[in-house]
Amino acid sequence: MGMEDEVKLLILYASQTGNALDAAERLGREAERRGCPVTVLSTDEFDASSLPNEKLVVLVVSTTGQGDAPDSMKMFWRKLLQRNLTQHWLEGVRYAVFGLGDSGYQKYNFVAKKLDKRLSDLGATAIIERGLGDDQHPSGYEGALDPWMSSLWNMVYEQNPKLFPKGPDFVIPDMKLMDQPKIQIMYHEADKVVSQFSNVTDLKSLEMQIERAWSMSHGKLSHDKNRPGCFLKMTNNYPLTIAGSEKDVRHFEFEPRSSIIEYEVGDVLEILPGQSPAAIDAFMQRCNLNPETYITVHRRGTENQIFDSKVPIKLKTFVELTMDVASGSPRRYFFEVMSYFASAQHEKERLQYFVSPEGRDDLYQYNQKERRTVLEVLDDFPSVQMPFEWLVQLVPPLKTRAFSISSSNSAHPNQVHLTVSVVSWTTPFKRKRTGLCSAWLAGIDPQKDIGVNIPAWFNKGSLPPPPPSLPLILIGPGTGCAPFRGFIEERALQSKSGSTAPILFFFGCRNEKHDFLYKDFWLSHSQNSGLLSEERGGGFYVAFSRDQPAKVYVQHKMREHSKTVWSLLSEGAAIYVAGSSTKMPADVMSTFEEIISEEIEVPKESAVRWLRALEKAGKYHVEAWS
Ligand code: 2AM
Repeated sequence: MGMEDEVKLLILYASQTGNALDAAERLGREAERRGCPVTVLSTDEFDASSLPNEKLVVLVVSTTGQGDAPDSMKMFWRKLLQRNLTQHWLEGVRYAVFGLGDSGYQKYNFVAKKLDKRLSDLGATAIIERGLGDDQHPSGYEGALDPWMSSLWNMVYEQNPKLFPKGPDFVIPDMKLMDQPKIQIMYHEADKVVSQFSNVTDLKSLEMQIERAWSMSHGKLSHDKNRPGCFLKMTNNYPLTIAGSEKDVRHFEFEPRSSIIEYEVGDVLEILPGQSPAAIDAFMQRCNLNPETYITVHRRGTENQIFDSKVPIKLKTFVELTMDVASGSPRRYFFEVMSYFASAQHEKERLQYFVSPEGRDDLYQYNQKERRTVLEVLDDFPSVQMPFEWLVQLVPPLKTRAFSISSSNSAHPNQVHLTVSVVSWTTPFKRKRTGLCSAWLAGIDPQKDIGVNIPAWFNKGSLPPPPPSLPLILIGPGTGCAPFRGFIEERALQSKSGSTAPILFFFGCRNEKHDFLYKDFWLSHSQNSGLLSEERGGGFYVAFSRDQPAKVYVQHKMREHSKTVWSLLSEGAAIYVAGSSTKMPADVMSTFEEIISEEIEVPKESAVRWLRALEKAGKYHVEAWS
């Protein structure tokens, strides 16, 4: 066998929100349609030490807002960065990198660029220049993916014609669906299934259903399935902003239904949002699904191996717990598959146009920009009747949402509090949208809706709990104050039994009147020699960004108090930054650089190095969300 016969295409992806997965799967399908043997894997499913054995690798990687690699890429990247690897390690490996990023951020496609450089430093050869997808492009990352993909196929074909028996420009025949759904559904008789479960309690059975639904769901969930979850009930729900403010931020309190809950300050709580019963019913009707049917879901071709280990679940429950029908936007492939199942000619044509290169921008405007939901899209194309298998594969998976915990477990035994901004916005066509999880939580009335079970998981975030003796500089504008409410509650308890180090807290909001979250709480701790008082070496300062003509941000307040900032830093303080603004963490970091360089009169570079060392020492923590 010649070298060429052994070549296979490996596509590796590192995805945070699913776009890189989407792009990788599309590359995989396009290669397959041209007759090329291909494997598509996530970077955490692939052992990086076997990379030298690969001949041809395409890597599709996302960069998150702060310039970080997706969590699923951490191990892979660590292996690649090992110092003992030589510049010959990847000799003979040919590769191509496609990045997904957003040019609105400073570290645009940082991960793709770093990866490209590292692969080439390790001796691998790029077959084409890296492609960079940009969220800011009128058709999103696909604007760059399409042309990049055709040059990729041309290059691969030139070097290995045998890989593409159907040629590099193969086009799918119009009327034929080339792919098969990856999964298969088995239907079960309700009577038999129900009799197996007659003796479990409701809560237990709900728990089992979630587990069962997720074990069958093809989507990757953001939480770690090995950690046991619990059910919470909401005991309090009140607004922290006054009515009529531009923002609606709420304080929620929860207690567990059965087990005891335990967490540390700085931890995050992940919640699986409930979907509206009306939306679920509408979806079931639209897709002609029988809600009473029981199903099992498995990968096509493997039913014999895993079928026995799976207990059937009610179809409706499966939809409710795993398929995001009324909030997430479908991906491009959804439209492609829809086009095959459209029976009205004009709908078929419109769908085919949408997935053609000419229709790409229009699809992006119609779908992503407008945040159309699956239900809305299906309603716009009433002649489409998609088999359930395809729906299960293509409807966006329902995901848990993570929130920074805003209470201390010691101050509130067996309770957990959240500070949540209720997300709402208007689309380019002026349609109102709300965030699935925050709007659902906001709509729960603890007095009336006592039966609502909230599936939740406790998780470590990026803010470790600080020991009492550690001086703290906290920066938390907006809902970024959430974890610090927990920090201060915890330290208030600790200070009763011993001395504690000072805390300096910079908070920011738009107006003193409208969105000064937890005002009384902070003020009570900053007065009368409280934890946040200047007498105790700390302080509490607020930046009201919109109470005067010019914007005032937490950074400005930090500068006003740069002496205190530096004196705490020189005493060994740790810095914690949290917040929802995507630019804020970078702005705060450069303000620290300026303060240090001015206070000790050193060049900026030395201040930068000083902060790097602080980070290395585990004393600079950032938790940011969008
Ligand atoms: P703005 O909305 O008036 O611009 C909480 O969201 C607070 O953080 C608001 O007062 C908001 O101000 C402010 N904020 C927005 N961008 C910021 C940034 N880059 N740095 C610091 N604060 C910011």
